Amino acid sequence: MAIKEFRQPKNNGSVGLSRLCLREASHLSLVRHPNVVALLGVWPAKNSLLLELVEGQTLAERLKRGPVEPNETLGVSKCVSLALNYLHNLSPEAVIHLDIKSANVLLPSKSAATAKLCDFGSARLLPKHACGEFLLGGVSGTPAWMAPEVVEQRPVGRPADVYSLGVVFWEMITARRDTNLTQSYSQ
Ligand SMILES: Nc1ncnc2c1ncn2[C@@H]1O[C@H](COP(=O)(O)OP(=O)(O)OP(=O)(O)O)[C@@H](O)[C@H]1O
Ligand SMILES: [Mg+2]
Repeated sequence: MAIKEFRQPKNNGSVGLSRLCLREASHLSLVRHPNVVALLGVWPAKNSLLLELVEGQTLAERLKRGPVEPNETLGVSKCVSLALNYLHNLSPEAVIHLDIKSANVLLPSKSAATAKLCDFGSARLLPKHACGEFLLGGVSGTPAWMAPEVVEQRPVGRPADVYSLGVVFWEMITARRDTNLTQSYSQ
């Protein structure tokens, strides 16, 4: 089992840790898919989530060794696409992840063909009445992977995740990224 503990960021004043923990838990509790890390429980006293342990490495760690082979690039992209297709079609509310990036894709060493999406800390539910888009009320995610509508604080929806998946695909082919733009933001 993996434990994700929420801690006070060093330079970010005081944030409601229990609120962040419970919000991520509530989003993950709606989800059950082979390409998404499973929530096993919540440990409220420790502001922690109990998660399925994925032994292996993140795609970001893998990319430090250089570009990914075309077959593996297609395999990982397929896994993340299946996860997004599932999340985006959940009923009655779709889940928009809003922080798709290589550090949030886990590659299990035992079954490299089953990449798993993690980190629902930026995720939002798409309200039924929102016609596919809603206002975030700020910036959420990680700039190097953010869709233009997120950066410009325009209404966002499913395409924001698809844009970020495109950036991950480009990372896998080139093993490049803008390292100045990798600090994450959450609303
Ligand atoms: N279920 C899991 N199994 C194994 N490793 C995990 C799991 N969930 C997360 N991790 C590892 O922990 C890292 C951080 O987790 P996560 O992305 O959920 O949190 P975060 O809010 O981005 O934290 P940070 O800002 O410290 O990266 C991941 O990039 C991955 O390396
Ligand atoms: Mg993360």
